[in-house]
Amino acid sequence: MTSAYDLIFRVQPGGSLRGEARVPGDKSISHRSIMLGALADGTTTVSGFLEGEDSLATLRAFQAMGVDIEGPHDGEVVIHGVGMHGLRAPAGDLDLGNSGTSMRLLAGLLAGQDFDTCLTGDASLSKRPMGRVTKPLAEMGARVDTEVDGTPPLVVHGGRPLHGIDYVMPVASAQVKSCLLLAGMYAEGATCVTEPAPTRDHTERMLAGFGYPVERDGSRVCIRGGGRLTATRIDVPADISSAAFFLVGASIAAGSDLTLRHVGINPTRIGVLNILRAMGADIELSNERTVGGEPVADIRVRASRLHGIAIPEDQVPLAIDEFPVLFVAAACAEGETVLTGARELRVKESDRIQVMADGLQALGADARPTEDGMVIRGGPLHGGEVHAHGDHRIAMAFAMAALRADGPVVIHDCANVNTSFPGFVELAGGLGLGIAVAE
Ligand code: S3P
Repeated sequence: MTSAYDLIFRVQPGGSLRGEARVPGDKSISHRSIMLGALADGTTTVSGFLEGEDSLATLRAFQAMGVDIEGPHDGEVVIHGVGMHGLRAPAGDLDLGNSGTSMRLLAGLLAGQDFDTCLTGDASLSKRPMGRVTKPLAEMGARVDTEVDGTPPLVVHGGRPLHGIDYVMPVASAQVKSCLLLAGMYAEGATCVTEPAPTRDHTERMLAGFGYPVERDGSRVCIRGGGRLTATRIDVPADISSAAFFLVGASIAAGSDLTLRHVGINPTRIGVLNILRAMGADIELSNERTVGGEPVADIRVRASRLHGIAIPEDQVPLAIDEFPVLFVAAACAEGETVLTGARELRVKESDRIQVMADGLQALGADARPTEDGMVIRGGPLHGGEVHAHGDHRIAMAFAMAALRADGPVVIHDCANVNTSFPGFVELAGGLGLGIAVAE
């Protein structure tokens, strides 16, 4: 979706990425830290919180529901929890901006409150499918109204008794799973969710960290209603989805040697590492440790010759947000890369299959979109103009493509980079990318 004004990235061709950096905090974990911290008994402190528009939308929503939250100051947030039943009705609609995670997770959490809420978003979020959460929530006894085509705004009716369900998800979605687990805390009996393939498990890990039992048996995860959350300390690792731009940039740009510090390497998030390594990337992990229930490591990446692969479908949910930049890697690799089983990319912040294919073609790449993926044959990239369609990850992916282009790459509609990666331009510029901003 096009933003009100056009923020443009102008990226000079060539160069390499060198040095050390810590990218901003993990978006998924930041959202969840606010949600669970707000509902906990006691005071939760968060460090490394992502100060991006998406996680700030979640933070403001809880402030609007009466939760006293201090910060963020340099990634530090203090949340004075109100307990499971302490939220108050907000004075107006909760505007969640561009953030699908905020809307889908809140739909479940708010179905368990005793007041009504209306959740709105920007033009992009207002087009995204919400039936995937409203249908199973209805089976639990909730009532969440959408537009006739299943899109936002969402009106979540509170004060309805919820009961547990045993739900088999038709799509592999951590947002749907998390929505139902959060509703399940307010439901009678057990709420169980079975996933068709593993998806990010930050909700389950963080619930355990707050002392709320969650049981997993293979692909099925269950929670019982009526429990409590106890405040804790959360150290948010750097977001591997943000690190991904640099992992690809350094891999494709000759002479690159980059170390990214304190990156989350949860096994449900490392599809990008697995896929890049299978393509021949030179990636080394060191200093592996566990921080607050989440594994982290420093990641060193050096330039290498990438080759095309057939991306295994089981890696798709584990790399679901990284495909824009993985397509750039494929366009710079020798031979053909084939992605299948990734239809979900069409309903992200933009249609990431179509928008990436259009942009890669504008730079002279051989990229053929398919219904559920893409076929890309690597080759030279030219300079040119591309459109991010207000999608943060598209904008950052094309910024990295310039490292291998033979002329400047101009990227339109980049303002939403601030939803997930504030400071991207400064950080990338400091590591060697020739990036400048224009309006
Ligand atoms: C997220 C889950 C993913 C991902 C999104 C964040 C989360 O969405 O694309 O950026 O924090 O749970 P789906 O679960 O819909 O695939």
